[in-house]
Amino acid sequence: MSSTIGNGEASQPLEVPIVDLSLLHQSSSQSSRSLVIQQIHQACLQLGCFQIINHGINEMVMEEAMEVNSEFFKMPMEYKEEFISDDINKPVRFNAIEGSHPEAGKFLRHFLKLYAHPLPDFLPCWPAKPPNYRDKMGIYAKEVKKLGTRLLGVIMESLKLGPTYLRESFDKGFQVVAVNGYPPSSQTDINMGIPPHTDHSIITILLQSCSGLHARPRSGEGAGHGDWMVVPEVKGALVVLVGDHLEVLSNGLYKSVVHQAAPSRGGTRFSIASLHSLAMEQIVEPAPELVDDEHPTGYEGSSLRDYLDYLSSKKDQTYIENLKLRYVKENNFEDNPAPLCFIKP
Ligand code: OGA
Ligand code: NI
Repeated sequence: MSSTIGNGEASQPLEVPIVDLSLLHQSSSQSSRSLVIQQIHQACLQLGCFQIINHGINEMVMEEAMEVNSEFFKMPMEYKEEFISDDINKPVRFNAIEGSHPEAGKFLRHFLKLYAHPLPDFLPCWPAKPPNYRDKMGIYAKEVKKLGTRLLGVIMESLKLGPTYLRESFDKGFQVVAVNGYPPSSQTDINMGIPPHTDHSIITILLQSCSGLHARPRSGEGAGHGDWMVVPEVKGALVVLVGDHLEVLSNGLYKSVVHQAAPSRGGTRFSIASLHSLAMEQIVEPAPELVDDEHPTGYEGSSLRDYLDYLSSKKDQTYIENLKLRYVKENNFEDNPAPLCFIKP
């Protein structure tokens, strides 16, 4: 398995497709719409990730969100300390996670996690400094929530469940925005930001300040399967990652993607990951339409609350492993060469 870790130069046979969402507009032809749905279907099926352009979020909104986060991270520790907590149920939480992973080596990540939907419930607890923080991040969070719901509709269509499948639940669903800051690797002996993991969400929409995100598909066949792919920086693009709960919902058709992020050499690398789920207590289970004799139910139903409880309990396997029913385990559909990390939500 080739795996060049670091910022930049790994060359892998697989490429992360770039999907142009403007082709979904009503004014576009039916065939260009079908093409987009087909591209998304293939990407979810084989890679578990893709990039999107012309997604409707203004570049200025994305730049300003990055800007206020970089200012927040530069604030004195006494201010940021206010938000430090290990309680994963807190709607605003700042912390640093460091450790060592058998494959990825030493890792370090600073993060600020913000509950974001419904925004008026949470905005008053978000950082008030820099002074435009709530304003600029609030706009981004709202826009990305809207995009997430739209994208989930397309993904449901790609599963042949229809564009309105679970629409209301997605709309009311839970959203947490994780802002990550990775100190430059040139100043430390640390070569990894976030070690290999899958996200608990249905989908994650990620904005990166520079390249550093690597993905390792858990499904798909042929050249490159099992290799790390660099997700290249594409100006104005957002990365979409398949999360554990989409794997469950699709009854294993779309596998959550293993990913990790490396720091950049020169300066701090930032990313803003928006995780989209159903409501905290709502159970996610395989869509009955995707269950038949050939594809029996592969996963136990679970809510986001169950996931949080699982994290707080003693655990010896990842959450998605824990949800798999015997049928999936016995058929051993995939290889997972490296141990995955438990990433707190
Ligand atoms: C995450 C994540 C990747 C990145 O926050 O779950 O995978 O590029 N981040 O920072
Ligand atoms: Ni992640």
